[in-house]
Formats: sequence, structure tokens, C-alpha cells
Amino acid sequence: MGESLLILCYLLASVSFIVGLKMLSDPARARKGNRLAAGGMTLAIAGTIFLYRDDHQQSLHNYPWIFAGIVFGTFVGVLAARRVKMTAMPEMVSLFNGMGGACAMLISLVEFLFIYKAPDLQRYPQPGNPGGQLDMDLSAGRLLIILGGLIIGSVSFAGSLIAWAKLNGKIKDVLFKGQHLLNLLVLAVILGLSAWFLHSTPGYPSDLSAGPIGSSSLYLLLLILALSLIYGVFFVFPIGGADMPVVISLLNSFTGVAAACGGFLYNNKAMLTGGILVGAAGTLLTILMCRAMNRSLKNVLIGSFGQHTVSSGLAAEHGAYKEISLTDAAMVMSYARRIMIVPGYGLAVAQAQHACHELELILTEKGVDVKYAIHPVAGRMPGHMNVLLAEADVPYENLLEMEKANEEFPGTDVVLVLGANDVVNPAAKSDPASPIYGMPILDVELARTCIVNKRSMKPGYAGIENALFFQPKTSMLFGDAKKVLENLIHEIKNG
Ligand code: TAP
Repeated sequence: MGESLLILCYLLASVSFIVGLKMLSDPARARKGNRLAAGGMTLAIAGTIFLYRDDHQQSLHNYPWIFAGIVFGTFVGVLAARRVKMTAMPEMVSLFNGMGGACAMLISLVEFLFIYKAPDLQRYPQPGNPGGQLDMDLSAGRLLIILGGLIIGSVSFAGSLIAWAKLNGKIKDVLFKGQHLLNLLVLAVILGLSAWFLHSTPGYPSDLSAGPIGSSSLYLLLLILALSLIYGVFFVFPIGGADMPVVISLLNSFTGVAAACGGFLYNNKAMLTGGILVGAAGTLLTILMCRAMNRSLKNVLIGSFGQHTVSSGLAAEHGAYKEISLTDAAMVMSYARRIMIVPGYGLAVAQAQHACHELELILTEKGVDVKYAIHPVAGRMPGHMNVLLAEADVPYENLLEMEKANEEFPGTDVVLVLGANDVVNPAAKSDPASPIYGMPILDVELARTCIVNKRSMKPGYAGIENALFFQPKTSMLFGDAKKVLENLIHEIKNG
């Protein structure tokens, strides 16, 4: 009865993950989808705690530890999620992803230690335990899963921590000569040692004659663990410029696969489904991100991004940039027929989404056609601009994806760039030395006029200058996006 109930819990949890994930693709139902999947996860956890029985019909023990962990984790998670600023979300996602990787890594380690320390009675056929596998099933497949969870989990853990530190500026890109070769070498050593580990560790039932697991297997596993952590660090160290989003979603998919390994180990269907879904969703997102950034997955895997040469001297090349006053900007926009707003990271920093929507409404009232051009990697996380604008109730149909927006720029009177930089940088098309070369951008230069709002001439995330700011069609409107938008609204209302 209890077992059937537990299977039902896992089934419901798995269905809730799938339906919840589907709902996440629709902004209007995303919150509900998130709650549904969280509810499913709660059911799976509660079911495991209260209904699980092992082969001897024993329930779980160590309840104080389990509940203390749940209470502590919930407290930290809720506090972090409530306090985090929208702009720091990717950092938090990275950190949480790293914790998932660490869990998978620890599960593998604990499982191996459990088998390693188990008395031979449990591992090998003995009088009174003729099958030997009563308590322990150590097949080569199981060892492979333990190894897989350990390697992938630790790469994801170490890589995510480095990504977190890089995103919040605690560490800079680390580049040195021969780095990519070293990365490949470390990976090759990990794979070589893994093959050796699988070959030399006695597995049950195929390898009974080999005797118990020796300490050399344990040391080998610990060496593989250490090298995987080092690889995780080295793998993310050089990645910089505009390439972090691809790596974050890749690490996300790693954690999913590592969690699925845990699901296999524990024969836990909910964990398996959850892991597979995260792994598959992360992989798809990685592919989409690669396409958006015009990168190949091979480059991501060997960590060969980030070597940038910073172009400079644009002012000397193009002359000075020109500024526009608030009054003039308000006038230009009031008389336009079609305006395209290009939101970027700066809009999120300024928390100016509500002011932005208000400006859109005022202009629309005046008969101006206002749309938003959304670049897939604008901001600091996938869908950042969509989430930001949805928060201010900007209708979803007013958001144009990059390809559609690029088709519409030639017929646009005014482009208003709000805190965006890299995603409108023409160097991506024209400068092969640029770190963002090849990344598709929003072709704002095709519009009649371009007004760029930011606080200074400082570069964006990729750390490079932007020739757009020096073009004759472009005027700079300096200031914090929220203040500038509020002043524009005031000017247009009273103009
Ligand atoms: P960025 O290129 O980072 O440029 C943002 C600009 O906003 C900066 O130049 C900054 O200039 C301005 N800004 C900052 N605070 C502001 C404020 N309060 N008011 C007005 N302007 C402000 O942003 P983007 O164009 O959105 O491009 C995103 C970049 O991040 C890409 O390189 C992308 O690859 C990378 N990235 C993306 C993701 C994802 S998944 N979206 C994840 C990680 C990294 P001032 O300092 O002069 O104001």
C-alpha cells in the first residue's frame, strides 16, 4: 500500500514537472507553472520521507537531520529569493545551480563510500546471504552512474561558483597561454582515470572473484573528484565577454544530468524525471543561446571563448558623439509615427520598467506606434527583458523578437535605446577582432534616428566601445534611465 502510494506521489510529481515546465513558456501562466512544479517537488520529498521503505521494510531514519536540513534550506532559499535584485538573478541562479551540482557530487561520493565500507557479507554471496546482492547491488553500470554523477556534478559545482563570482564582479576573466590545451589535457586525464577506475574496481555480480573493493579505487575516485573540480574552475575561468549566458545554461544542463544519475542510483523516478527535464531543457537552451550568440557548442565545451582585443580610439576614428537635450528628445518622439524601444541591462539596473511603460502609454495616446525590440541575450539572463517588462504589464504582443524587430527598423522613425549597449554594437558585424564578432545584433542604425540613454560613455558587459554612439544618426541622452524616462514623460505631458 505504502509503496503504491509512493509510486503515485512520484508519478504526480513527474507530471507536475512536465506540465509546470510547459507553463513556464507562457509569461501569463509562468508563475502558476512554477508553483505547480514546486508543489510536485514537495509531494515527492514528503512521499520519500514518510512512505519510503527499504528491502527490509525499514523507513528512513535520521529524521532530525533531514528536517533540520529542510528547515535551514527553505529559510536560506526563501530569504535569498525575496531579497535578490532582478539584476542579480543570474548570480543566484548560478549559485543554486552549483548547489544542485554539489548535491549530485555528494550523492555519488556517499554511495561509493557506502559500498566501499559495507561488510563483505553484504557484497558477496555468504552463508545466509546466498545472492549477495540483497543489500548491495554493485554492477559495472552502477559504478558508471556513480562516476558520471561525481564528475558532472563536481564540474557543474565548481564551474557555477566561478560563474557566480564572475557575474557579480568578484573575479575577472583568467586567461593564460596554452589554457585551452591544459583544459583538454585535464579532461583527457579525467576520462583516462575513469576508464582505469571502472576497469580496476570489482563490480558485482560479474566480478566476484576479484574480491572486495581496495583502497586504490577509493583514492582513484577522490583523484577524479579533485580533477573534475579543477576542470570546472578552468573551464569557466577564461569565459568572458558576451559568452557567459551560454555557459550558464550549459552548466544548468550538467546539473540536470548529474541529478538524473542520482535518480538512477536511488531508483527514484521523480528525481530521474526532474534531472532529465533539467538536463534536456538546459541543453535546448544552450543550443538556442549558441544560435543567438552565433557560437558553436564545440567552442563552449573546450572553453575557448573570451580572448578579446578591446577596440579603442573610436572617437578619433568617428569624431565626437553628440548629445540631445530632454526637451528635444521629447519633441522628436512626440512627432514620430513609429518608435522602437530597445531595453537593455541598464533598464533593469535603474528599475525603470514602470516609467518605460508609462512613456509608451503616453506616446500611444498621442497616436505613436510604440514597440519593443528584444534581443535574446539583453540583460543578464535568458528572457530578462521579457520578465522585466511583464512586471510593468507591457503587453506581450508589443515585444518583437530580434529577427522581426530587424525587419521593422527601416520603417522606424525613432529608436530609443534604454541601457542597452552590446546588443546594439555594430562591431559584432564589422570588427573580426571584437569579442562579440558574429553575435547577431539589433540593427538600430537602420532606423531614421537613434537616441541612446545611458549614464556615461562606459562600455557594457563585453567591455568594448560602441561605434553606434558616434554615428551621425545617433544622439546620446545621458542619465539614469528611470530619471530620464520620468523627465521625458513630464516634458511630453507638458509639451
Ligand atoms: P550591456 O552591454 O551590459 O550594457 C548595459 C549598459 O547599461 C551599460 O553600457 C551601462 O552604461 C548602461 N547602464 C547601466 N546602468 C544604467 C542606468 N541606471 N541607467 C541607464 N543606463 C545604465 O547590456 P546589454 O546591451 O543588455 O547586453 C547584455 C550583455 O550581457 C551581453 O554582452 C550579453 O552577452 C551579456 N550577458 C547576457 C546574459 C543573458 S542570458 N542575457 C547573461 C550574462 C551576460 P553606463 O554605465 O554608461 O550607464
